[in-house]
Amino acid sequence: MPSAVEQEIRALIGKHGRITFAQFMDMCLYSPLGGFYSSRANRISAHFRTSPTSHPVFGALIARQLEQMWRLLGEPPAFHLIEVGSGDGALAHSIVDACGQTYPALAKTLRYVAADYEPWWPPLGAAPADGAQRGMWDVQRVKTEGLLPFRNVFGCVLSNELLDNFPFHRFVIQDGRAREVFVTLEGDSFAEVLDEPSSPRIKERLASLGMSLPDGFRGEVSLAQESWTAQLAQTLERGFALTIDYGERAPDLYSPQNAGGTLVCFQQHVLSADPYQLIGQQDITALVDFTALMQLGDRHGLTTVGYTLQRDFLESLGFSSFFESVLAQEQSYAYRELKRMAMMSLVDPEEHGDFKVLAQAKGMGPGVELLGFKGGLGQANANA
Ligand SMILES: C[S@@+](CC[C@H](N)C(=O)[O-])C[C@H]1O[C@@H](n2cnc3c(N)ncnc32)[C@H](O)[C@@H]1O
Repeated sequence: MPSAVEQEIRALIGKHGRITFAQFMDMCLYSPLGGFYSSRANRISAHFRTSPTSHPVFGALIARQLEQMWRLLGEPPAFHLIEVGSGDGALAHSIVDACGQTYPALAKTLRYVAADYEPWWPPLGAAPADGAQRGMWDVQRVKTEGLLPFRNVFGCVLSNELLDNFPFHRFVIQDGRAREVFVTLEGDSFAEVLDEPSSPRIKERLASLGMSLPDGFRGEVSLAQESWTAQLAQTLERGFALTIDYGERAPDLYSPQNAGGTLVCFQQHVLSADPYQLIGQQDITALVDFTALMQLGDRHGLTTVGYTLQRDFLESLGFSSFFESVLAQEQSYAYRELKRMAMMSLVDPEEHGDFKVLAQAKGMGPGVELLGFKGGLGQANANA
């Protein structure tokens, strides 16, 4: 018997004959009837590790970057930090702890909002009665999609592994033209059919690449990045957007080595390329097109002020010295090894080290130099 979400998808296909892959993915991940992210029986860490869930040093180094942003903004009395896709709150936890311990002036002004479709946080325990100690109790949790409820943000919008989960359209090049992949049913089985793209924006996006993709090339286009960037520009009054995810600039993303597309599914640490199995029980993702993000940002008044590899970003913020001091404080050999491996996963190219970090700014004027972007890929031209 198919699950409720699978029945929902089958019914929609039954009604329309076929649906776009973006619609299919949206339901698989976010349907209230049992999408992967809607059912918190699916705790993320049961399926895959992210940087914040690997080790708190990730959040501690981001706190250092945030502190500089706060200074660049003129040390405002309220620094808004909106983290979208905050998941189980691991990043919020480590940033709030690091601010409390190392950046007390920022900690006093920090207004942290953790936003997610389906926030899942472990119980926090009671807040201290005197209210003197700031901490996770001060983090506002908001159940929402994207940035819709937020306006007049003076600070930073932060996300880690959010954009790769935005539902994307898939295409195949046939006879020199882009055809869209639609999902249909053949008997009882899901099947793909190719047809004219459901939106002219798919062809426009591909044309904007200025690349001629060969016949048979399969890929993904995330139109959801357009509304995300528009929301970002509307939400941010003045400050920064810090976006961390796996992805590439367009020339690398749409390159021969990705000619079969970059879709990946995860279920309990097992990776597959089949989105039509385990409906609602597996994550579906693809590499993020950072060129598109930078170009969209330009269009909406968000200037790219940094783009680099996660490992370079963390190194510029002091990863090596944190690494040494965390290990030096650990007396147990076994725990030291565990911590070493967890921290190394943040910079290891085979794990999270090759992720990209993009910083965009609004209303900050020219010449912004962020600590995390010294060296590395630098303030890259979007198309380079
Ligand atoms: C891969 S998890 C990453 C969680 C966390 N940032 C981390 O790195 O551990 C993606 C998270 O984004 C949330 N999410 C996806 N799309 C969203 C949207 N449009 N608005 C809010 N949250 C979203 C999901 O519910 C999920 O918690």
